Amino acid sequence: MQLLDGKKTSAELKEELRQEVEQRKAQGKKIPHLAAILVGDDGASRTYVNAKVKACEAVGFESTLIRKEADISEEELLKLVHDLNMDPEIDGFIVQLPLPKHIDEDKVTLAVAPEKDVDGFHPENLGRLVLGLPTFVSATPNGIMELLARYNIETSGKDCVVIGRSNIVGTPMSILLSRNSNPGNCTVTLTHSRTKNLAEITRRADIVVAAIGKPEFVKADMIKEGAVVVDVGIHRIDDPSKKSGFSLLGDCDFEAISKKASYITPVPGGVGPMTIASLMANTMKAVKMRE
Ligand code: GUN
Repeated sequence: MQLLDGKKTSAELKEELRQEVEQRKAQGKKIPHLAAILVGDDGASRTYVNAKVKACEAVGFESTLIRKEADISEEELLKLVHDLNMDPEIDGFIVQLPLPKHIDEDKVTLAVAPEKDVDGFHPENLGRLVLGLPTFVSATPNGIMELLARYNIETSGKDCVVIGRSNIVGTPMSILLSRNSNPGNCTVTLTHSRTKNLAEITRRADIVVAAIGKPEFVKADMIKEGAVVVDVGIHRIDDPSKKSGFSLLGDCDFEAISKKASYITPVPGGVGPMTIASLMANTMKAVKMRE
């Protein structure tokens, strides 16, 4: 078994971006500027947004973190999105999800200008992805494709099973892997909570992408010997034996599956860091598009 090391690969990606920023500086070009809106005080969202801001610092981007109380009105949030759309200094921005219940996430996603939508959540960008047109591919699927590419994983003609059909991961992942591209050209099965005989389906897969959002849902007996396993989940589980008081688990039973898989992403240190590096790459793309 070989690890698909997202920590190492994302560091390489970020180093390439850092060098590109240096070149841009030397040429007097604009330094990419990413803004993030964080609403409320959700612990996981705070951790993710802080990691994104830290990554901006590491690659030499400008960053702006806008924090708002959980009781911000939808109207006020939409106004803030509009202001960022119009701000010539900001090249791209994200609104960290989930949002408080009283705010319509779809409305907010639609309000982001597609050319600044570095998360790739806007229907225009998702539509462009489906059609194979240049777009911002949302960060997690983009990061997984980059990881497969950099490890030279053969995907052409392979049977791939994606578990989970979210707009952010499962659905775009299934489209990207089935496209006529490299990585790509897989025969993809998109499975979800209503899929019957899931284990039978996953056992046939050469590549499994687990994005179901349930800790250690995928067991070793669901995986074929030699399969490539990509684990998108990350769950903080109470663990008194740990100094921190918790462990991080993925959607896959890593210990058992790693004895069967040819390649597997660890949690943490697999897909997560690749997601952040991809967001940085999308922001670099945004600044270039605006030029
Ligand atoms: N919440 C969980 N993942 C993401 C992401 O990639 N982007 C945003 N904006 N919110 C998220």
